[in-house]
Amino acid sequence: MPPRFSFPGRNATIALGTAASLVAGYMFYSSNRNAQLKRKEPAPITFKGDNQWLDLPITKIEQLSHDTRCFTFALPSEKHVTGLITASALLAKFVTAKGSNVIRPYTPVSSNTSTGSFQLVVKHYNGGKFTTHLFGLKENDTVSFKGPIVKWPWKQNSYDSVVMIGAGTGITPLYQMVRHIVTDPKDNTKIHLLYGNKTPQDILLKRELDELSAKYPDLLKVHYFVDKPDSSFKGHTGFISKEYLSKNIPSPDEKTQVFVCGPPPFMNAYSGAKVSPSDQGDLTGILKELGFKKDQVFKF
Ligand SMILES: Cc1cc2nc3c(=O)[nH]c(=O)nc-3n(C[C@H](O)[C@H](O)[C@H](O)COP(=O)(O)OP(=O)(O)OC[C@H]3O[C@@H](n4cnc5c(N)ncnc54)[C@H](O)[C@@H]3O)c2cc1C
Ligand SMILES: *[C@@H]1O[C@H](CO)[C@@H](O)[C@H](O)[C@H]1NC(C)=O
Ligand SMILES: *[C@@H]1O[C@H](CO)[C@@H](O)[C@H](O)[C@H]1NC(C)=O
Repeated sequence: MPPRFSFPGRNATIALGTAASLVAGYMFYSSNRNAQLKRKEPAPITFKGDNQWLDLPITKIEQLSHDTRCFTFALPSEKHVTGLITASALLAKFVTAKGSNVIRPYTPVSSNTSTGSFQLVVKHYNGGKFTTHLFGLKENDTVSFKGPIVKWPWKQNSYDSVVMIGAGTGITPLYQMVRHIVTDPKDNTKIHLLYGNKTPQDILLKRELDELSAKYPDLLKVHYFVDKPDSSFKGHTGFISKEYLSKNIPSPDEKTQVFVCGPPPFMNAYSGAKVSPSDQGDLTGILKELGFKKDQVFKF
C-alpha cells in the first residue's frame, strides 16, 4: 500500500498535536473539522454570484509577516459556507470618503468546506488604496464582498501532475488548490509547488504548507526559494531558475499543467503577462523556453 493511505483519515480530522498549530495552523483547520462532523445537511451558500455586496465583519486579525496579515471574516451564520469552488476569488470593496468605490480581488485560503468564517491573507502595499484601508480596520469592522470569480475549475485527476510557480502573495490561489487536491481522498494528482520570496520571514503559509507536505509526501513537494537566506533556512537561494525547473519538474510531454501567480516581473520571467482577466496572452519566458505550450500554462 502506498504510504499516504496508511495515514488515518486523509479526509478526516487533522491532528492538532503541536503548540505551534494552535496559532495559524489551528485557524485553518478548526472549521474544517466542524464541517466534517456535520456534513450531512447541505450548508447555506454565502456567495451565489447574484451581484449582491455583502458586509461581513472581521473576527480576527493575525500578523503573518512584517507586511502581511491573515484576516478572518464571519459568514452570515455559523452554518454558512462561502460556496466557492476551487480555485475561486472574491471581490472586496470599500467606499472612500469622497464616495468612490475601491474594488480588488482576493483569494480565500480557508477550505471551502469551512463553515461560519473564511480567511484572506493580504499583503499591505504602501500607498495601496485597498490594503491601506484594510490594514486600518479592526475586529468587528466590516468589508463588502461579492462573488465568486471562478479562476480555474479544478477537476480531480485531470492531470498526472501539476506544477505551481508562485511568489509572495501569489501563493494564495496556489495554496487554495494545493489544499483542495491533497485533502481530496480520490485525487491522486502530484503537485510540485515552487515558491519564491525575498527572505525566509516573507514565506507565507509556511507552517500550513510544511504540514501538508509532511502528511502527503507522495502528493506534494514544496520547493522554497529565497533571495536572502538565514542560517536556519532549509531551501534554495536565488531565483527559481530555468535549470532547476528543467531538472525538477515534469517535462512538457507529460500529462501536466502549470499554474503561475506572482507580481508582474515574476510573471514576465516565467510565463509572460496576462493581457486581461479574460485573455491569458501569449506564453513567453522560461516556461516557453522549456517547451511548454500555451494551453499547458495558466496565469492566475
Ligand atoms: C484574482 C486575484 C486574486 C488576488 N488575491 C490576492 C490575495 O489573496 N492576497 C493579496 O494580498 N492580494 C491578492 N491580489 C492582489 C489584490 O487584488 C490587490 O491588487 C492588492 O491587494 C493591491 O491593492 P491596493 O488597492 O492596496 O493597491 P493599489 O492601489 O492597487 O496599488 C498597488 C501598488 O501599486 C502602487 N501603485 C498604485 N498606483 C500606482 C501608479 N499609478 N504608479 C506606480 N505605482 C502605483 C501602489 O503604491 C502599490 O504599491 C489578487 C489579485 C487578483 C487579480
Ligand atoms: C468545494 O469545491 C469543490 C470543487 O472545487 C466542489 O465540488 C464542492 O462542492 C465545494 N464544496 C462546497 C461546500 O462548496
Ligand atoms: C467585537 O464584538 C464582540 C461581540 O459584540 C465583542 O465581544 C468584542 O469586544 C468586540 N471587539 C472589539 C475589538 O471591539
